[in-house]
Amino acid sequence: MNSVIKNDLETISEILDDVKNYGLDFLQNLPELTTYATIQEKPQGSLPEKGIGTAETLELFRNNYQQLIVASAGPRYWGFVTGGTTPAGIAGDWLTSVFDQNTQSTKGAGDVSAIIEKETIRLLMQLFNLPQHFDGGFVTGATMSNFTGLAVARQWAGAKSGRNIAREGMQGDVVVMSATPHSSVIKSLSMLGFGSNNLVHVKTLEDREAIDIQDLEGKLEQYRGRNIILNCSAGTVNTVDFDDLKSIAVLKEKYGFWMHVDAAFGGFAACSPAHENLLEGWEHADSITVDCHKWLNVPYESAVILMDQKHAALQVETFQNSNAPYLGNPEENFSYLNFLPENSRRFRALPAWFSLMAYGKSGFQSVVENSIACANVLGEYLNNNALFQLDAPVRLNVVCFSLKNNPDKNHEFLRLLNSRGKVFMTPTNLSGALCIRAAFVNFRTAEKDIKLAIEEMEAVSALI
Ligand SMILES: Cc1ncc(COP(=O)(O)O)c(C=O)c1O
Repeated sequence: MNSVIKNDLETISEILDDVKNYGLDFLQNLPELTTYATIQEKPQGSLPEKGIGTAETLELFRNNYQQLIVASAGPRYWGFVTGGTTPAGIAGDWLTSVFDQNTQSTKGAGDVSAIIEKETIRLLMQLFNLPQHFDGGFVTGATMSNFTGLAVARQWAGAKSGRNIAREGMQGDVVVMSATPHSSVIKSLSMLGFGSNNLVHVKTLEDREAIDIQDLEGKLEQYRGRNIILNCSAGTVNTVDFDDLKSIAVLKEKYGFWMHVDAAFGGFAACSPAHENLLEGWEHADSITVDCHKWLNVPYESAVILMDQKHAALQVETFQNSNAPYLGNPEENFSYLNFLPENSRRFRALPAWFSLMAYGKSGFQSVVENSIACANVLGEYLNNNALFQLDAPVRLNVVCFSLKNNPDKNHEFLRLLNSRGKVFMTPTNLSGALCIRAAFVNFRTAEKDIKLAIEEMEAVSALI
């Protein structure tokens, strides 16, 4: 063994202590750390001939690279939809690296960590009050989850025309519809050969991002006879609007389309009795996307795809490693490698399992309801404000706003606000106009953070 690696192994206890203390320092200071990296240049490191060992590498990182790390896990990082990391999430994630499983199967020789992955999926379904006929597995994020749901939908559509698309390829006999798809759905259409230009856009309700059910039915009639996949939104990324999943489920009975629900973060509305009605009907979906690195507050990368088990055979047709005999017959030997896109699979379920067991239903109810309350505090401030205007109703946990009197300065305002490093938000487009968007999913965020952000917003508005 290389002498540096040997020395590292012999001093692993000190190394892990150092890493723990270093990580602890970061976590304890997280609320005060900057949300914006001011250094934008590339690091200039070069590969050493003889390695310097982990202890020295940690020092090197601390001195030269720490400044590139922002408080994205902190309480005032409201850009995109970025969750934080709870103690249980971190514990599970650390052990995922320590255990280094390649999570595949539930029985047989070698690694059987998929037993825990399957259990984690069951726990998640209990958290979401979803029926037992769903099963699923972990992927890197909601993008891959949407990809997976749409890939099996594609296989389903081919099977309806007597074709195995996984083997024979596409022949343009599938129609995909959606009203307000997330960009990752469009990307999935590109990756899956549907062609993103071929998406059939269904109208939204007036001043909403939710699907217009009448227009949907019109389109379903128009494309009658074709195999249709409908991508539904359970929480649009901008205004957290929900398609009427209950009415969609009724139309599904009538027209027989594949119902995919992108509930990347909106699925967590199920944790709050006051908001679970938003998801009514999602139990009729064929496939559902939920992100765990958002509202479950586990570290990136973690999401699940939930699939109605009646589609298990189609799922295997889509993802089977047909020329890998060591995986055995997928009918007899369950392996995630035959059900999901990745063949190398980190034990992603573990941080989620730790979190679900550590905090339970009431823990996540309080995380979700706290985020919603924070969004409402900011929303109420923005309503009838002299400086800012609320650009969309606060439906759940996202707030969209702009400068009241000079919205053309929104961009400059946001750039300045972010550069001060106290709070981070991202821009978006609502009805063609640029506005500012704050998304709340971090379990640490509290009212004092909203207060601090408002002070920053007011200070910056005075500067432009
Ligand atoms: C509704 C929705 N779908 C999909 C995604 C993509 O998620 P990820 O970045 O985890 O791939 C997001 C991310 O914000 C989202 O909000």
